[in-house]
Amino acid sequence: MPDEKHIADNEEDVSSYPSLPTHIAVIMDGNGRWAKRHGLPRISGHRRGLESVRTMVKACADYKIPYLTLFAFSSENWRRPPAEVNLLMDLFANALEQKARRLHENNVCLRIVGDTSRFSPKIRMLIQRAETLTRNNDGLKLTIAANYGGRWDVTQACQRIARDAAAGNLKAEDVTEDTIAQCLATSFLPEPDLFIRTGGERRVSNFLLWQLAYTELYFTETLWPAFDGEEFEQALASFAKRERRFGRTGDQIVNQRQIRNA
Ligand code: IPE
Ligand code: IPE
Ligand code: MG
Repeated sequence: MPDEKHIADNEEDVSSYPSLPTHIAVIMDGNGRWAKRHGLPRISGHRRGLESVRTMVKACADYKIPYLTLFAFSSENWRRPPAEVNLLMDLFANALEQKARRLHENNVCLRIVGDTSRFSPKIRMLIQRAETLTRNNDGLKLTIAANYGGRWDVTQACQRIARDAAAGNLKAEDVTEDTIAQCLATSFLPEPDLFIRTGGERRVSNFLLWQLAYTELYFTETLWPAFDGEEFEQALASFAKRERRFGRTGDQIVNQRQIRNA
């Protein structure tokens, strides 16, 4: 059995995990209910939701949180009434067109993950333009999940691996967890430390299924358009109180902390 010193020297020291998350992933839910409560059409809720995106981007930049990933449209959201889907597509196109320059000025690097092949040529062009414009920025890495589904992501990763294997470039026994992670649409991101879902539902709704394995989950009743800086600070405060054990015991974490602080 290795002694505690040995563990601290030779294994990842989880007690030194910072109290601020490196990567935050958000399900921005509750736009429709927010609109209904205010006697407005659902699309007004989505528009107001964009304001919360701006608040969140600024807050992450202020806190120097390196990665923010936002779920904007799921692979299941096509099931909504066509009129709402069309309005959401218009809003997405307008946001890409109008906000890209501002993000660029703020040194944000924007990436879109998801099956973009289902979007209109105009949206695909705007995605490419915004990603190219901001690609060299070294500030906040903002990732928007659009027509994204966790199952779609794992499936497309399996397809890539199977193609590699069929071409003779990869043996089955050489497929590791890293191989899979590197084939996911989020391969350029670390795993999320903090997951936030607004709007009261306590489910993952096919967001980052593989990537959330050890993410701290935070749920709030607050509807996304009402999610402000104060709400964000509450989520951060909740995260700071968590003890991330990654399979170890609480005593191991305390011992590691004592050794580190000695
Ligand atoms: C989230 O808000 C935005 C999208 C899914 C596009 P909703 O539109 O799901 O809002 P609710 O859940 O109906 O209130
Ligand atoms: C999840 O919200 C997707 C996004 C926020 C983009 P939904 O409102 O679509 O999730 P369900 O249908 O309530 O699970
Ligand atoms: Mg919803």
